[in-house]
Amino acid sequence: MVRVVRATQVEIESAVQALRDGELVAFPTETVYGLGANAQNPAAVRRIFEAKGRPANHPLIVHLDSPRFLHRWVREVPELANRLAESFWPGPLTLVMPKAAHVHEVITGGQDTIAIRVPAHPMAQQLLTAFGGGIAAPSANRYGRISPTRAEHVREEFGDSVRVIMDGGECNIGLESTIVGFEGGKVRLLRPGSVTASQLRAVAGELAEGPAEDAPRVPGSGPMHYAPTTPLTIVPAGEIDAQADAASAGGRRIAVLAQRLPLRSHKYVTWINAGRRPETYARDLYTNLRTLDKAGCQRILVQAVPDGERWEAVHDRLLRAATSIAEADDGTGTMAVLP
Ligand code: TXA
Ligand code: MG
Repeated sequence: MVRVVRATQVEIESAVQALRDGELVAFPTETVYGLGANAQNPAAVRRIFEAKGRPANHPLIVHLDSPRFLHRWVREVPELANRLAESFWPGPLTLVMPKAAHVHEVITGGQDTIAIRVPAHPMAQQLLTAFGGGIAAPSANRYGRISPTRAEHVREEFGDSVRVIMDGGECNIGLESTIVGFEGGKVRLLRPGSVTASQLRAVAGELAEGPAEDAPRVPGSGPMHYAPTTPLTIVPAGEIDAQADAASAGGRRIAVLAQRLPLRSHKYVTWINAGRRPETYARDLYTNLRTLDKAGCQRILVQAVPDGERWEAVHDRLLRAATSIAEADDGTGTMAVLP
């Protein structure tokens, strides 16, 4: 089902005015909601860090309505960046490139590079075009918490402290953009997203592998990101029913995020079947984690997702949300004993 959500002219004008006044505006993108500020106003950008509780050295993505203003932000656009932009913009891909001299360090966290994305959501496009400049925006959640994929999630995160929240419905991708950098004539994947490594390779050739020349700071790559407050454990796919029974023994309430229905009924278990399709699983992931986080359970058990690149971004976010991994069947985990 394709739902095209557009804002009214009045809504766009008041959002643009808020940006010009140095205020924050939450807006939808096809990946997650962003918390935006005028990227040319350092005081406004600082307010993003205050609102999120985000460390000041974590750089932000600047959003543009099209590549036409790229040269204002980027010193030198790598040839491969042009190719990727032609193939994937507007869309869920962020390019990290050498920054232009005037770009303020509050955006780049003091690095020599800047991250740029042209989002595809019609409301983001409307806002960016009407504003006419760059909007610096991280995901509209408090630092380290679950990213928002609906306007109501943004309200849950910030209440009245963010005055303008544009409601563009549910984000249809549901996970943050793929981020790439450029290194020695190659593209390096910095954060997996819905644009996969093979899609990147098809346009830009072999990707850079192994240790980075100079490790870029990607805070979303630290542990304990995208995390619910309820402890979350990933369990091997075939053990989800047995683990749910074991964990709920004695009447402890347990939440489960699985890819199928339970094999039998579990008395103290809240069970979500998120299905087997990576696109819908990804789209619903953060909403499902929020729902399970609010279910009053002592632990969230997540059935390990399949291997393979279509699941890579989901796998990455689940690992960061997990407090422990009970021997996940891909072998990346260490054995955890459920309390
Ligand atoms: O889909 C998305 O990318 C969403 C929407 C709102 O566009 N935004 C988003 O922003 O996920 P945020 O701030 O939550 O994550 C941005 C990531 C961070 O991990 C940050 O470190 C990385 O981009 N980043 C920004 N500038 C960078 C740079 N110069 N070098 C390396 N990483 C950078
Ligand atoms: Mg984020």
